[in-house]
Amino acid sequence: MDTARFFEGVPALFPGDPQDTDPLDSYWDVVKKDVSGYTSSNELAVLNHAAQLMPESEAYLEVGTFKGRSLCGAVRDAADKKFYAMENFMEFGMAGQEARTELMRNLGVYGADSDVELLEGDCFKLMVQPGAIDRPVGVYFYDGEHTLLSHYLALAVVEPLLADEALVLVDDATWPVVQRAHRLFMKRHPGWTIEATWDAREADDPRWANGLHALVFRRTKPSRLSRSDESLRRYQTTVQDRVNAVAWKAADAMPGVVKAGAKVLLSRSRAIGSGDR
Ligand SMILES: C[S@@+](CC[C@H](N)C(=O)[O-])C[C@H]1O[C@@H](n2cnc3c(N)ncnc32)[C@H](O)[C@@H]1O
Repeated sequence: MDTARFFEGVPALFPGDPQDTDPLDSYWDVVKKDVSGYTSSNELAVLNHAAQLMPESEAYLEVGTFKGRSLCGAVRDAADKKFYAMENFMEFGMAGQEARTELMRNLGVYGADSDVELLEGDCFKLMVQPGAIDRPVGVYFYDGEHTLLSHYLALAVVEPLLADEALVLVDDATWPVVQRAHRLFMKRHPGWTIEATWDAREADDPRWANGLHALVFRRTKPSRLSRSDESLRRYQTTVQDRVNAVAWKAADAMPGVVKAGAKVLLSRSRAIGSGDR
């Protein structure tokens, strides 16, 4: 993926500074209005721009598809590209079948001619399955679980799958927890840089949601999951995922109590503009 071309092209998507203006193309508002989800029109414009520039010999990988808003944006006019979407249908007390049905309906409308493969399950298990992805990943969009460990692993586990030069877009990156994960990860892994930060000025900012950061990976040596990263991955996929499953079930059964508890626990790690970086 020619990441320099991607960054050069972003300004043309907007009438002014991308931080402060809406995309020129109103199509992204249509997708946003019609497809339930969390990504903003500005983010959809940027995701699609990345997919447009990605060579056909590489794949676009999204983690955290929910009902497909971000994917519906990415696939527009990109019938010649290969898209993978990983989703475990666990968050938001999702009844898997119901969410999947909505996702398929949305892809039928916005991506009828696109080549999308839905890989259902835990991304941290799927990404290490040999052959799950048939070519190097040129564009990776991470919008899955937002804990320190999951954001660290979101980069560690994908690295071996990435093309020698790849664009990595991370959602909700204005949250301090995400930036901490990036700092921790980049201290231990060469070849990564943060090239652009489109930050949220407030929670659920209408322009940039909770912020989108663009990282670039350039391989400097063969990538493999280190022993310590593999231990973290095992913890996430054997212990943490069970804790998450119980928590989401409880949230379904006692929404008020769980919501109040979560608000207290998450308030610092997700406080936009708190300076807690
Ligand atoms: C914020 S939503 C994604 C929103 C979506 N990208 C959009 O544009 O509306 C996060 C999604 O990540 C999924 N998710 C969380 N952890 C995951 C994991 N370990 N593997 C796969 N999907 C995961 C959740 O089920 C949820 O649907």
